[in-house]
Amino acid sequence: MQLFEDPKAFQAACVAARREGDLGFVPTMGFLHEGHESLMRLAAQHRTSALSIFVNPSQFGPNEDLARYPRDLEGDLRKAEECGVDLVLAPKDPAAIYPAGFQTWVEPGAIAATLEGEHRPGHFRGVATVVLKLLQLSQATHAYFGRKDYQQLTLVQRLAADLDLPVKIVGAPTVREPDGLAKSSRNVYLSPEERRRALCLWRAQQAARMALSSGETRASALEAIARAEVEKAADRIDYVAVRDAFDLSAIDHVAAGRAVILFAAVVGRTRLIDNGLLEAGA
Ligand code: PAJ
Repeated sequence: MQLFEDPKAFQAACVAARREGDLGFVPTMGFLHEGHESLMRLAAQHRTSALSIFVNPSQFGPNEDLARYPRDLEGDLRKAEECGVDLVLAPKDPAAIYPAGFQTWVEPGAIAATLEGEHRPGHFRGVATVVLKLLQLSQATHAYFGRKDYQQLTLVQRLAADLDLPVKIVGAPTVREPDGLAKSSRNVYLSPEERRRALCLWRAQQAARMALSSGETRASALEAIARAEVEKAADRIDYVAVRDAFDLSAIDHVAAGRAVILFAAVVGRTRLIDNGLLEAGA
């Protein structure tokens, strides 16, 4: 496995690797867990696999957790190696990605305006810009994203389609703890008591699925059932929303085709997101 701090050196290695065949790529912010590992294993199936570890300042708001975002480069590199990653980009300084004079941004559309976009203004502009840059650096033929960040995955698929990027964006299932809590780098912020309460996001989606399987298809009713579960344990709810699974637009009913229920809530000082597919007739 080769480690690069310099994006241009990483890009040169990726260009060379692409002459040999496909390249699978996983962009991350590090502090890697089993969710990231599942993506790295998928990428490692390609001729060459690449990983980026970069806590991207431009996707954090002024009052968010950029300064205290957890980091463990040594542990991350060990995990990447175990998963069979070939090339790792881990810039030490954000200026490696955003040098002096940087001024070109990707402005995402409607998908970025709703849900997370409403609560984290500018977040998806930062995500879209850094993802485009990382795809350019890695020269990936296949890039792997978790469904854990469902709106981000949808946005990146749109970005790749709209800007004709020669890469296949692949979504992978959410990896969970045995009790259902979605794995997240931010779970380390939770105290044992908060960790128990954080399970409300899993309980809520299970409650919605149960109601759906008993015949309740109205989005508003499913949202109310799920919200009641989150309210029992969370300190603040940002949203509980049943949306179209393809473009995240509002829907009245979960009918044929697929819908997704998405959550954002705060437990203690930690903001958690989760989601789950809702399948009518499932
Ligand atoms: P990060 O939060 O580190 O996540 C990197 C990738 O891992 C994302 O595609 C995310 O959806 C996926 N992931 C996180 N938890 C997961 C889980 N429990 N199961 C499956 N996949 C999971 O998402 C980002 O970083 C950044 O926004 C990034 C795309 C790197 C741009 O800065």
